[in-house]
Amino acid sequence: MAQYIGAIDSGTTSTRFMLFDQNGAIVAFDQREHTQIFPQSGWVEHDPQEIWERTRQVIGATLAKAQVRADDLAAVGITNQRETTIVWDRHTGKPVYNAIVWQDTRTAAICRELQEAGHGDFIYRKTGLPVATYFAGPKIRWILDNVSGAREAAERGDLLFGTVDTWLLWNLTGGRHITDVTNASRTMLMDLETLDWDEELLAILGIPRAMLPEIRPSSDPDLYGHTRRDGPFQSEVPLGGDLGDQQAATVGQTCFSPGEAKNTYGTGCFMLLNTGTDIVRSQNGLLTTVCYQMGNEPAVYALEGSIAMAGATVQWLRDNLQLIKDAAETEAIAQSVPDNGGCYLVPAFSGLFAPYWRSDARGVIVGLTRYVNRAHIVRAALESICYQTREVLEAMNADSGVPLRSLRVDGGATVNNFLMQLQADILGAEVLRPRVAETTSLGAAYAAGLAVGFWPDLESLRANWHVDRRWQPQIGEAEREAGYAGWKKAVTRTFNWVEA
Ligand code: G3P
Repeated sequence: MAQYIGAIDSGTTSTRFMLFDQNGAIVAFDQREHTQIFPQSGWVEHDPQEIWERTRQVIGATLAKAQVRADDLAAVGITNQRETTIVWDRHTGKPVYNAIVWQDTRTAAICRELQEAGHGDFIYRKTGLPVATYFAGPKIRWILDNVSGAREAAERGDLLFGTVDTWLLWNLTGGRHITDVTNASRTMLMDLETLDWDEELLAILGIPRAMLPEIRPSSDPDLYGHTRRDGPFQSEVPLGGDLGDQQAATVGQTCFSPGEAKNTYGTGCFMLLNTGTDIVRSQNGLLTTVCYQMGNEPAVYALEGSIAMAGATVQWLRDNLQLIKDAAETEAIAQSVPDNGGCYLVPAFSGLFAPYWRSDARGVIVGLTRYVNRAHIVRAALESICYQTREVLEAMNADSGVPLRSLRVDGGATVNNFLMQLQADILGAEVLRPRVAETTSLGAAYAAGLAVGFWPDLESLRANWHVDRRWQPQIGEAEREAGYAGWKKAVTRTFNWVEA
């Protein structure tokens, strides 16, 4: 019997392929970065062909490292950066434009028009999403409006849209055009109740239905297809799981019961709270989204607090300011000072997402004096991740009425133990890191494994979850609240910076 499940995780900055065994332990992996393209202020693009190339490379490298043949894989799952929008020609397979990344704010004018035409409430009721540059629908619209000949070609049925999962499935299978409910729920085009594309939304955004992929469950026993023999697996491996990366991390953390939540520290930071089969509307700036749908089971929903800049803020310190050489350094540098020295950094580089949803905001560093040095700024950058998380947690507590006492965390930045202590201090709640912090890939593997019976059910997965380390708050209430008040004040300084 095949012993492993493979997971392709195509994230904002890199793609990885991981092999997991029956216990959910990592057997081997490989990871490669792709280019971040910034054509002008506020624009962020990726080259879809480069993403596909990296995907092929990491699959080949992982199988070689583990000395595993594709026939040893029971199934493969896919997880991906969500909302990032690719439009390609169905005949040639060539993208008509670069991928427009979720962080890109070029659709501000389209979003403003939608608001001014009074569509905001309708869109929110149907999709659970505020009108914001973050989502895929306005990005598709931008491509149709701005790439020569694109609208006519789309209307003729010659162009296909996909988020990164769809792009990879199309390339892996040789032409199947499929997405899952979680990715579709980020387009602003899917009705949360019917789990289908909504004709009225398509009309409002001016998007031809023929471009859109078929929407399937996140784990599908009928499979999305098999990998092509002449592709990177050189074999026909069943493709059984497809989830947006934040939903995948929620599955990887085994947050299967209503009230269970996780926070992932990646490029951005995303907290998801499982609300069961209820569609809960936030009163406090959170999104309502599909959490997962396993086979024929009803869809499970989540409230989500999306933060655009987390790890990306540290990358910015490294690449744009050259204040640090690598992310790992921040742990020691931030600890070399006792506090932030009165300095706050609010990384509103793509505007502010939850709970504010302000595309008129831009980043600030405030509270500067002659006393403030590099270490204070590095510390302020780490604190910005924790303060944004606190704002989202407060919104979740207010929406659910039940305060979260402990938070499951995962993602690359959770290796930073100082950051995790800071997070517990700033939240005033316990922080729990699991042994496998790569829960995004794990969640995609779980979805694929469930589809082919590699794991029998969700309950069987809980046994694979083990605590690696916990952090308790170590500062007093007065200190915590004083710091938070400073953060709140700093946030107000980002507003109304650009027209939106
Ligand atoms: O919504 C964007 C999100 O899916 C990106 O995730 O892990 O690349 O920060 P990540």
